[in-house]
Amino acid sequence: MALNVVVMAAGKGTRMKSAWPKVLHRLAGTSLLQHVLNAAAAIGADRTVVITGHGAEQVEAAVAASGALFARQMPQLGTGHAVQQALPLLPDDDSTTMILNGDVPLLRPETARALVQACAGRHLALLTVVLADPFGYGRILRDERDASRVLGIVEHKDASDAQRAIREGYTGVMAAPTALLRRWVSALKNDNVQREYYLTDIVAMAVADGVPVVAAQAVDETEVLGVNSPLQLAELERRFQRRQAETLMEAGVRLADPGRFDLRGTLECGSDVEIDVNCVFEGRVTLADGVRIGANCVIRDATIGAGAVIHPFSHLEGATVGEGALVGPFARLRPGAELGPEVHIGNFVEVKNSTLARGAKANHLAYLGDATVGERVNYGAGSITANYDGANKHRTVIGDDVHVGSNCVLVAPVTLGAGATIGGGSTIAKDAPAGQLTVARAKQATIAGWKRPKKPASPP
Ligand code: UD1
Ligand code: MG
Repeated sequence: MALNVVVMAAGKGTRMKSAWPKVLHRLAGTSLLQHVLNAAAAIGADRTVVITGHGAEQVEAAVAASGALFARQMPQLGTGHAVQQALPLLPDDDSTTMILNGDVPLLRPETARALVQACAGRHLALLTVVLADPFGYGRILRDERDASRVLGIVEHKDASDAQRAIREGYTGVMAAPTALLRRWVSALKNDNVQREYYLTDIVAMAVADGVPVVAAQAVDETEVLGVNSPLQLAELERRFQRRQAETLMEAGVRLADPGRFDLRGTLECGSDVEIDVNCVFEGRVTLADGVRIGANCVIRDATIGAGAVIHPFSHLEGATVGEGALVGPFARLRPGAELGPEVHIGNFVEVKNSTLARGAKANHLAYLGDATVGERVNYGAGSITANYDGANKHRTVIGDDVHVGSNCVLVAPVTLGAGATIGGGSTIAKDAPAGQLTVARAKQATIAGWKRPKKPASPP
């Protein structure tokens, strides 16, 4: 049976105190709204309608790739009014429509799916949650004689003291037959404390129509928590990171501290992977068997081969690291850095758009940009490729077994033949032949009889 999802995302998010629309704030590197759209996709929504209002253009542009439809709600007269705007975009058939909140990012697809099943194409299904402090939530009113029967939802502001004592709150998530939803939502009135059209008033309408109302309780409150403030955003981020950390640890990944781990994307790990504290993984990262990541590394869109070690404080982006390679501490691998097996990249070494073949080493204070580096090359401290002439980038080719001394400038385009040795301090602007020593630096001279100037005696 067809499923539509309506995501409410028109609200302002005043308490975020931000120029951005609330639903575009990021949790684990992905906007709140995108998390919700991912959940909608995961439950196989055939059609998704996002209600936009505050910052509508920005919000619509941000999630345009999702294929969702948009309905604008201006001004915002309440959640019922929001759903009214979606009605013209919903099909006239026997489909089910699920309502989600754009600022509740962690709803699990399994929970959403269970609610659609509870709706069964004929009931009104509500997702509720029992909270220690349900302040602000709409309260679930149940029949005193038969607690399985839900009679309505009363909004916090409209509730009596007795009703406020109810700890079961409405999460903002419901599923209903589209045709009934259309009928009920069209008939909503705003005669309440806030002068708003409350979507929650349809519950009493369903009861009046003899349509069964079923309430499913969320087991894990994390998945129904909304974001209204920077504090709540940070708290949800930590809960989400904890979830991810636990999943990785269940698969055998050894995190030194699950509380100091951040994954903003996907992380695939082989066996016996160890990750020390305060590492951030972004985009798509793959760590093969036995990889060790030292403390305080930031790794984005990278593939790291078996047994490689990334020492502390390294920054990797768009890089490939071969088996058994050693990187860092304080190394920087930029996009297009491709390290072969057993390569060593040491402290304060930057590599960009360069391939290093098996066993090549650049251990200290160096730059390799747009370079092709052969096997077993030893690239000395302080040496750099001068790859940019102010307009164009040029390649440096370093053959197998080359030794580049310290503080060399390799002015690209330039080629160092296999087995060449480059004397320290050389500026190499022409190709260096294979197997020979090339030196390009001023000759050392000693001035005979030279005297060091003396400091005048300081006055007493
Ligand atoms: C709503 C529910 C309440 C529930 C709570 C859960 C209603 C009347 N009340 O209350 O029962 O316990 O959520 O968090 O539905 N929005 C629009 N347009 C509007 C108003 C809101 O798109 O005109 C969007 C908001 O951006 C937000 C969502 O709807 O994503 C919920 O709105 P909010 O104002 O937070 O509703 P609550 O008062 O919290
Ligand atoms: Mg709210």
